[in-house]
Amino acid sequence: FENEYTWGKAVANNSTEKFHESFDSAIDKVRKILGKKYPIIINGKEIYYDDCFSVRCPSDTEIVVGEFPKTSVDDTKNAISSAKNAFEKWSNTTFQKRVEIFRNCADVFSKEKFFLAALMTLENGKNRLESMGDVDEAIDFMRFYALQLENNLGFCKPTAHPNPHEKTQVVMKPYGVWGIIAPFNFPSAIAIGMTTAALITGNTAILKPASDAPLSSFQFAKIIYSVIPDGAINFVTGSGGIVGKTIIESKDVDGIAFTGSREVGMRGFQEFTKITAKPFISEMGGKNPAIVTKNADLDKAAEGVMAAAFGFGGQKCSACSRVYVQNDVADQFISKIVEKTKKLRIGMPWERDVFLGPVINKDAKTKFENAVSLAKQDGEVLTGGTILSSSGLEKGYFVEPTIVTKLPDDHKLVKEELFLPFLCIQKYDTFDDAIKLANQTEYGLTAGIFSNDDKQVEEFFSKIQAGVVYANRFASATTAALVSSQPFVGWKYSGSTGKGTGGENYLQQFMHSQTQTRCD
Ligand code: NAD
Ligand code: ALA
Repeated sequence: FENEYTWGKAVANNSTEKFHESFDSAIDKVRKILGKKYPIIINGKEIYYDDCFSVRCPSDTEIVVGEFPKTSVDDTKNAISSAKNAFEKWSNTTFQKRVEIFRNCADVFSKEKFFLAALMTLENGKNRLESMGDVDEAIDFMRFYALQLENNLGFCKPTAHPNPHEKTQVVMKPYGVWGIIAPFNFPSAIAIGMTTAALITGNTAILKPASDAPLSSFQFAKIIYSVIPDGAINFVTGSGGIVGKTIIESKDVDGIAFTGSREVGMRGFQEFTKITAKPFISEMGGKNPAIVTKNADLDKAAEGVMAAAFGFGGQKCSACSRVYVQNDVADQFISKIVEKTKKLRIGMPWERDVFLGPVINKDAKTKFENAVSLAKQDGEVLTGGTILSSSGLEKGYFVEPTIVTKLPDDHKLVKEELFLPFLCIQKYDTFDDAIKLANQTEYGLTAGIFSNDDKQVEEFFSKIQAGVVYANRFASATTAALVSSQPFVGWKYSGSTGKGTGGENYLQQFMHSQTQTRCD
């Protein structure tokens, strides 16, 4: 898989310098295409609009990354009709051909990955390593789902029957038209992962990316639409409240794969399944805890929690946003993590060695200001808390990585997802308390523990209510699941189906099975 290449081979071979040089020249290339107008894609045709919205670079809002159509309700409906019309042809394409198409697409992405990562860094503010990880993950999703389809022979399997005159096979078949509604934070990996799953299983699709980051998703739509039947994939941009809502309310859409906030996901789920029973795969938010026990390696725990809390500014669904530290070691842990956090390099995310870029938009910045003033009122800010508006950062949405403590355990800042570089440190007495506190949100996405006691780790795995759980993940506490090795799944309000992306149960959700029996 691609992630293995970047993080394994490239780093092990000491090719870091080469990596940086390639990324620098990709940034130069991307700068030359900034501000372009992009089309939507319906029925195999690119359609340009006069009525567009500007995608601005969150690091410097004077930079327009691209202009994208405010797709009308009529065109959204046209996209749905064209997906419906294309279904017969695409679903009858052999699974071997579909596998080949996605492997080819993964290869194209692999060749272009520096350009694609540089584009993302300008579009949503991920630093260069995080952007590359996102593109690599997209490639891995394409290759992994292709492999799944191939290993399962297109999901067609004979069953045994005691009567020799009855021969049965179970065939998984595509549902029809899928709406794919994607978030801004993994505009390559998540948008492409969901769309690939729908298409490779023989469904047709309408992909609606987040308005803060449509360009990375467009790169995929542009490649794939030209190699599959017209209308099999359609790409529409614009507001969630108009374009997304039209997709969710359509009777002609047979399934939805949504990734985004709990609020939008739950509303969509209810609307979509109001009248008929149709699949709505919803991956939603998190308020992910880490538990640090008195027998943890505190230096490493501080490093891991810091990376998970502040990597991409806490804007990963897997980010660690609360940490429970045993009283005996709390002061030590706090001083270590505060010291490490103060040293983080904040700046333009395309520059080498910058750890933290901007938050995604003005709303996120305002949310940060409000969270900080609430934390000052009800707890204590240990570090951070400031909007960064000098030294060249004033044109972007830069905020300080922030650590707060002494909030009541049931405080909204401790329980609700903020999606910001904002970490709450809470203290606890007994391990039972830690588990209870860690489980006390309505989310259940990722969780981590730092402990050298195997029994404690076992108990954590058995009692923690979350889909992706790690013990002693010193590099990244609760984040950075790898496709195929670590299926990514949310419990409770973090996900609706309990089947992990990048895992072997994911693709089946995009198909319903038919039990076929021949008698002689
Ligand atoms: P969001 O919910 O604001 O938007 C997600 C998508 O929904 C966007 O494309 C948006 O345009 C669309 N949308 C908005 N209103 C809509 C409506 N009324 N009808 C239909 N579609 C609508 O989320 P975001 O800010 O882009 O992403 C951040 C959120 O995503 C966080 O909550 C994060 O935890 C979550 N997330 C979850 C996972 C996971 O795997 N569980 C992964 C990534 C992100
Ligand atoms: N898959 C991403 C992670 O694990 C969200 O961090």
